[in-house]
Amino acid sequence: MRYIISIIIVVGTVLSATARYSVDIVPAPVSIAEGGKGAFTINDKTTLYMPGVPDSAAATLAAAVTARLGDIQPSDRRHGNQIELSLTAGEPDDEGYTLSVDRKRITASATSPAGLFYAVQTLGQLADRNGGLIPDVTVTDSPRFAYRGVMIDVSRNFRDKEFIKKQIDAMAALKLNRLHLHLTDGAGWRIEIDRYPRLTEFAAWRPGETWKQWGGRYLEHTDPEAHGGYYTKDDIREIVDYAARHYITVIPEIEMPAHSEEVLAAYPELSCAGEPYKQPEFCVGNEQTFEFLQNVLDEIIELFPSHYIHIGGDEAAKVAWKSCEKCQKRMADEGLKDVDELQSYLIHRIERYVNAKGRDIIGWDEIMQGGLAPNATVLSWRGPEHGIKAASQGHKTVMAPGKFCYLDGYQDVPHTQPEAIGGYLPLELVYSYDPAPDSLAVDTRKNIQGIEATMFTEYIATDGHAEYMLYPRVLATAEIGWTPQEQREYTDFRRRALQVNDDLRGRGYNAFDLHAEIGNRPEWETPVDHLARGKRVIYNDCRWAPRYCAAGEATFTDGLRGGWFYNDMRWQGFYNGDTDRDLDVTIDMETPTDITYIGADFIQLCGPNVWFPEKVIISCSDDGEHFTMLTTITTNLMRDNKVAFRTFSWQGNVRTRYVRYQAFNRWRFVFTDEIIIR
Ligand code: ACM
Repeated sequence: MRYIISIIIVVGTVLSATARYSVDIVPAPVSIAEGGKGAFTINDKTTLYMPGVPDSAAATLAAAVTARLGDIQPSDRRHGNQIELSLTAGEPDDEGYTLSVDRKRITASATSPAGLFYAVQTLGQLADRNGGLIPDVTVTDSPRFAYRGVMIDVSRNFRDKEFIKKQIDAMAALKLNRLHLHLTDGAGWRIEIDRYPRLTEFAAWRPGETWKQWGGRYLEHTDPEAHGGYYTKDDIREIVDYAARHYITVIPEIEMPAHSEEVLAAYPELSCAGEPYKQPEFCVGNEQTFEFLQNVLDEIIELFPSHYIHIGGDEAAKVAWKSCEKCQKRMADEGLKDVDELQSYLIHRIERYVNAKGRDIIGWDEIMQGGLAPNATVLSWRGPEHGIKAASQGHKTVMAPGKFCYLDGYQDVPHTQPEAIGGYLPLELVYSYDPAPDSLAVDTRKNIQGIEATMFTEYIATDGHAEYMLYPRVLATAEIGWTPQEQREYTDFRRRALQVNDDLRGRGYNAFDLHAEIGNRPEWETPVDHLARGKRVIYNDCRWAPRYCAAGEATFTDGLRGGWFYNDMRWQGFYNGDTDRDLDVTIDMETPTDITYIGADFIQLCGPNVWFPEKVIISCSDDGEHFTMLTTITTNLMRDNKVAFRTFSWQGNVRTRYVRYQAFNRWRFVFTDEIIIR
């Protein structure tokens, strides 16, 4: 019997020494070397030893070890079969760590408890990957960026504190360290403020459970039809404390001067008209506005230890300010030349207030309009160029450009997905983004603090849908934030992300099933060859809408087809509004050419006013001046919520040099990607 046991032990040892372990984790460490000599097995003799770690951090780290690796008893001395987390002298803000695992011992060291926490997260993912065993590895690791964030909009559709804590768990496992909560917006105020009870008695409640059913009005919290909610101060303390124990800072966002309809419904005296439901912006001419905002910020600053206080700043239409006597007087008194400068006046003033309390403001990139406040950090959402501009002017910047970071768009073929706000943002596109490319000047790059994935929730009404939109795309954000750019490669990331995403699904997160991803519109993938490819396109007194220029004059004959969304810069958009801007182009085939087919695809998504044409005319000409109509196609358009594609074409036989393609739709956008001629 003893002989048989010895054989099992020997075979087991040889197997475990030669078995192929996986080190597929996200984010990829800076360096991970496999020793190939087996794995550490956690058993009931394993202890946790933390030399040099102060008690407060030791309790947090012990809880992290328990959460990721199981219940491991602490020990106050070094011995075998142990996980040792040691704090060494050095930079206290450094989140890096080193880790060494062999069959008998795990040793991690760092200069900060955060570094040790991330070592534990690496161990957790290695254990997930290898059925609880931790392979023999040596890891040296540290983040690329200090700011690695996720924003969750809890205004449009409220999410309770348990949901937030669950996402903090996932974020921590991915080494993300900033949770930005979009706490206030027109759809509901979500945080208790003692001084202004109407914010949570009224502005947090509405008819209609979801943002889509909202209807723009508010209800008393006692109304049986009221839907909504808010965090009490105790909820916030619990979230902030839970996050801190996961080395995550919670950044509160209080919107100003716009996106504030809910405040103005509760406190109408703060609007220019003095009435609710008239405008989304605070009156900047009114001193009561500043009194309100400063009082709110006092309570916010007391609740949130975050160095950054997010003050919104986005999408102010500023219309009411133009005719408001108080705003006009403020502009005259302060010598402000336009309403952009009036917004800037508010941001500067709020910045001074926040700075005096020892904190800094961060705001959406429109806070640059009218002149940026001196110490402000810019959260760049409209496009990387805004963040780059701020960074080049010496401002700290966090990158969250919509094209790469807005997780409210579709991640796969739209008609297979729950309804989203629009746009197509698959995992690969998220991953492709580099917040601080080498092409930028060194001084600009050093001001780029990091990246934030943002999840606005207009169309995201449930916990399950929110997790579906977050994962796996947040894995890409995490790796962009952590792993050196030169090490990042999508195929390798996807292989690791598939496994880590499956772990999340196994732990009860409703992540999108990456194994089932279909990918972009097939037409997008392969360029189309046809007779007009490369030929000159003449725009007949019409111009594309500037935001939807695609490849300019090359768009319709470059062979490149559009994807699932009109804003992917392969579709060119035309808006026939006040001036005549119907699509009207002529393609010069250079010589008389035998043609049997002329056609173009159009995309329709009625929500953002993108429609098929009502009428298409296709004609031809030998001299480019006198055209003969080949066909006129008219359509009865039907409103529909889904993205759709339709080809408008002619077939026949003609020999001609010039082909003219016109598409009409008054007051609506039309988008096409290529005019195919065969
Ligand atoms: C934003 O998306 N309006 C920041």
